[in-house]
Amino acid sequence: MKQDLRSFVEEYGRAYPGEVIRVSEPVGLQFDLQAVVLELERRRRFPILLFENVHGHTIPIICNVMASRRALAFALGVEEAQMPLEYARRLKEYIKPVVARDPPFRHTILKGEQVDLSKLPIPTYFPGDGGPYITAAMTVAKDPDTGVETEGYHRYQVKGPTKMGVSLHSRRRMFEYQRRAEARGKNLECAIVLGLHPVIGMGSLAYPPPEVSKFEVVGGLFGEPMQIARCETIDLMVPAWGEIVIEGEILAGVREKEGPFGEFTGYMARRSTEHVFIAKAIAMRERPWYQSISSGRVPDHILPLGVLREVEIRNALSRVIPNVRAVHVPTSGCAAFTAFVSITQTRPGEAKHAIPVVFGVDHYLKFVVIVDDDVDVFDESDVLWALATRVQADRDVVVISGSLGAILDPSASEQGLTAKIGIDATRPFGQAFAEKLLMSPEKVAWARELVDRLPIARPDPG
Ligand SMILES: Cc1cc2nc3c(=O)[nH]c(=O)nc-3n(C[C@H](O)[C@H](O)[C@H](O)COP(=O)(O)O)c2cc1C
Repeated sequence: MKQDLRSFVEEYGRAYPGEVIRVSEPVGLQFDLQAVVLELERRRRFPILLFENVHGHTIPIICNVMASRRALAFALGVEEAQMPLEYARRLKEYIKPVVARDPPFRHTILKGEQVDLSKLPIPTYFPGDGGPYITAAMTVAKDPDTGVETEGYHRYQVKGPTKMGVSLHSRRRMFEYQRRAEARGKNLECAIVLGLHPVIGMGSLAYPPPEVSKFEVVGGLFGEPMQIARCETIDLMVPAWGEIVIEGEILAGVREKEGPFGEFTGYMARRSTEHVFIAKAIAMRERPWYQSISSGRVPDHILPLGVLREVEIRNALSRVIPNVRAVHVPTSGCAAFTAFVSITQTRPGEAKHAIPVVFGVDHYLKFVVIVDDDVDVFDESDVLWALATRVQADRDVVVISGSLGAILDPSASEQGLTAKIGIDATRPFGQAFAEKLLMSPEKVAWARELVDRLPIARPDPG
C-alpha cells in the first residue's frame, strides 16, 4: 500500500469524483480556510480541499483529509460499513516499521539561520485565536526512559522564526515523555511532520500498551511495516512520506502563555500546558503540500478521534461483554466526552458492568449510555428515547466524581478534574417490559417503494 498523502488523495478522488476539490480561487491565511470548511459543513459536505493559490506563498494547502467516515474507510481499504470491525481488528496487530532510504522530505533542508517558520503558509483559524497555528502537527518523540516512539497531533502557535508555543493538554504519552525528560533537566527532542496518509493519523490516536511504538500500530493498520526515516539534526525516526518535517525540541523548565485557540469543544480555549518548542531544521519535499486541519468542532479535527474511541471501546468491551453491537462517540459530544453503546445482554448486570470499562478506555469520556440492541446508537433521537423511557434515575445512574478528565472541557476544573456519569438505559433484564411499536417488514418495504414514487420536494441541502 502506498503510504503517502498524495497517492491517497489521488486514489480517493478517482474512486469518489467530487470528493477531492482543487480550489484555484485565491485564499488568504486569515480565517479563509476555516470559513470555507464551515460553509461546506453547513451544507453537509466534507470533500478534501486543495487550495492551490494561497496569498503570499507558493506552497498549496491541503485540508479536510480526515473529515468523513468514507475517507477513513477508504484509507483502510474497506467499505464504510466494515470499518468499525476492521479498524478494531487491525488495532490489535502490531507490525514493526522499516527504515526507508532517501525519503522525499530530504529534498530541501533548511538549517541554522535559514530556519524561518514564516516560509510556511500557516493559517489563523478563528477570530480570537492567539495567532497562526500549525494544526496538523504530527509530533514524534521517544520515551527518554525506554526509547519507545510516540506520535500524536499537538497544536503549535507560531511566536517567531523558530519559536512556537505548544499545548500537550491530552496529557498522554507526549506529556509524560516531556515530563520524564524535564525531570532529568533535558529538553525533549521532537519532530513535527505535516502531510500524512490518514492511516498514520488514525494510528497515532490509538492507545497501545506503553512498550508498543505508535509506528507499530500504524503498521498494523496498513497491514505492512510503516516506512520511517531518520531526521537530519536530531536522533529520531519519522514517517518517511511526510511532506514537511520540522525538527526541534520542547524546552525543559520553560512555560509561556499560549493561546487562546478555537478548540474541539466548540469553545475558545484559554487553557494550555504552555510548553515551548524551538525549531532547529525544516526539511521538505520538492513542491510540498502544507496540511491544515481546521480547528473547532469540525469533522476534520474531531471525527478521527471519535472513530478511534469507538473502536478502542469496542475492543475493550469485547473482552468482557460477548455481544457488543455498536458504539458511537458522537460529534455532539465533541467526539470525546460522550459514548453510546448497544449490547445484547445475556447476563443481568452487563450494562452496568460495561460503564466503567468504557470510562477506562480514555480519560476524556464522561457521559456513557448503554442501550439494548434495538436502539440505533447512530440515531441520537433513538438514544434519547431510550433514556426517556427505560431509565429510572435512582436505579440506573452511576456517578464518579473527581476523576481525570480533559483540561479543555470548560465544565471541568482548571486541572481537568471532572465528574462522570454512566446510564444503564437498557430494559430490566429478564423481566416483562412494554412492547415496542413496530411496523411489519412487508409494509415497510411497500411504503418505501410507494413514497419513492411520490413527487415530494427534496430537502434544501443548505
Ligand atoms: C487534529 C488534532 C489536533 C489535536 N491537538 C492536540 C493538541 O493540541 N494537544 C494535545 O495534547 N492533543 C491534541 N490532540 C489529541 C492527540 O493528538 C492525541 O491524544 C494523541 O494520541 C496524543 O498522542 P501521544 O499519546 O503521543 O501524547 C489532537 C488530535 C487531533 C486529531
